[in-house]
Amino acid sequence: MAIRLGDTAPDFTASSTQGEIRFHEWIGDDWAILFSHPKDFTPVCTTELGAVAKLKPEFAKRGVKVLGLSVDGVADHEGWSRDIEETQGVKLNFPLVADKDRVVAHAYDMIHPEADNTATVRSVFVIDNSKKVRLTLTYPASTGRNFDEILRTVDSLKLTSQHSVATPANWAHGDDVIILATLSDEQAKEKFPEGWRAEKPYLRYVPDPTR
Ligand code: BEZ
Repeated sequence: MAIRLGDTAPDFTASSTQGEIRFHEWIGDDWAILFSHPKDFTPVCTTELGAVAKLKPEFAKRGVKVLGLSVDGVADHEGWSRDIEETQGVKLNFPLVADKDRVVAHAYDMIHPEADNTATVRSVFVIDNSKKVRLTLTYPASTGRNFDEILRTVDSLKLTSQHSVATPANWAHGDDVIILATLSDEQAKEKFPEGWRAEKPYLRYVPDPTR
């Protein structure tokens, strides 16, 4: 069954390169990104895991833990992590789940049989500290993900959770944001006493409140 936004992320216990992971307990009070890749010792996946390892301090700064997954075993993950360090110039600094029996892959609908019968697709789940799924992405095996974009979505999710705003197309941290369309002008005046720039009655911009 597909996982939808707002669903509770399925909990699981699984082996990983950093020992047994009890997922919800491991997330704790942080947020988490669970992402799958199709197969160890493959080129695109090698570059992706290097990219995530390089960005780990940025995710940590935002209170987000990262967890990778494929249907390969721990021994393969460990052997491959040496290749990642050698070719990407960065140590694998986050756990990789070994989902050989595909329990997690099925719980998260990460196997799309019309794409590949056995390997996981490139799924991404952003999960908040109440263990709710806040964002999902699915890429095919042939397209490496843009992890800067995933970082950007975390910035947007965290900002829009705390303020009555939404973020426009291609928004980046510091850019103007949009007052929620559900807020009347009267309500908006209370939240944004400095006012706003209205291009239409429903398109009202204010500076990023965290800028
Ligand atoms: C890759 O990571 O390059 C890859 C993995 C599985 C299928 C195709 C490409």
